Amino acid sequence: MAHISVLVDEVIKYLSPRPGENFIDGTCGAAGHTEEILKEIGAEGKILCLDLDAESLRRAQVHFEKSEPEQLIFIEGNFADIEKIIQEGKIFPIDGILVDLGMSSEQLEESGRGFSFLKDEPLDMRYCLRQGLSAREIVNYWPQQEIEKILKEYGEERHAWRISQQIVSLRKAAPIRTTRELIGVVAQAVPAGYRYGRIHFATRTFQALRIAVNNELENLKKFLPQAVNILKSGGRLAVISFHSLEDRIVKNFFRQKARQEEIKILTKKPVLPTVEEIAKNPRSRSAKLRAIIKK
Ligand SMILES: C[S@@+](CC[C@H](N)C(=O)[O-])C[C@H]1O[C@@H](n2cnc3c(N)ncnc32)[C@H](O)[C@@H]1O
Repeated sequence: MAHISVLVDEVIKYLSPRPGENFIDGTCGAAGHTEEILKEIGAEGKILCLDLDAESLRRAQVHFEKSEPEQLIFIEGNFADIEKIIQEGKIFPIDGILVDLGMSSEQLEESGRGFSFLKDEPLDMRYCLRQGLSAREIVNYWPQQEIEKILKEYGEERHAWRISQQIVSLRKAAPIRTTRELIGVVAQAVPAGYRYGRIHFATRTFQALRIAVNNELENLKKFLPQAVNILKSGGRLAVISFHSLEDRIVKNFFRQKARQEEIKILTKKPVLPTVEEIAKNPRSRSAKLRAIIKK
């Protein structure tokens, strides 16, 4: 399924791109937000399009080939290195930055990298295939306590201990190589009632592994102060998060910077998708947008 960008009108409202301005889309993905920002900045503005996933970036480039590519600068990289990357992109001043965290629908459904518990694929979960650590390595080589810790911290999985015990016990017989094999292990570990709960019983395990593989929370923590630094005075930053761990980091960071009078918070409460958007795009249901303006 093609990725449907979330909270597009709201992103445009808070980033308020104007003709001639420069933007960073730190998570270009299928470039839906990039495209909307591009419409607003006109021929004089620029967008630095960044993504960790070379395949996603290549597709975005192909999508824009026939329009005005000179306005778009595509760079494969991590938003956690944004201060360094803008030197490479030679884009100044920065009027606005967006990050739309997590993975795209293409990554979930078409990448073949084991992001989805509904598919049988190799356990990988890397956004950037040049990185060493994969989900397979965590599951097959990390000590039980480390696996339990990420399941607890990144998955908020209440059966973290049982699942980690089962992983370590079963991998002795044969390595856990695929999503289906991992789901089998989780199914054996959790109580029967949990297998028929509201959410799929492997949801939290998959979330935890994906966050650990891609170092997602650390990347976000490194990115936020850099983003505020590189924005010009009056520049805007918008962050879309998809779970409470990310949202908490963003909320606390914005509050701290607001207390230090470096920024003004534009969204007192996180902005959520409308009922209509959720009906059209169920993936948007957990999205939360927070935005600031630099003083
Ligand atoms: C939700 S998608 C973005 C979708 C995009 N906004 C759109 O409208 O099509 C998130 C993207 O962020 C990328 N990503 C995740 N972590 C990243 C990081 N630390 N640096 C750069 N890109 C990252 C993923 O590879 C993925 O393509």
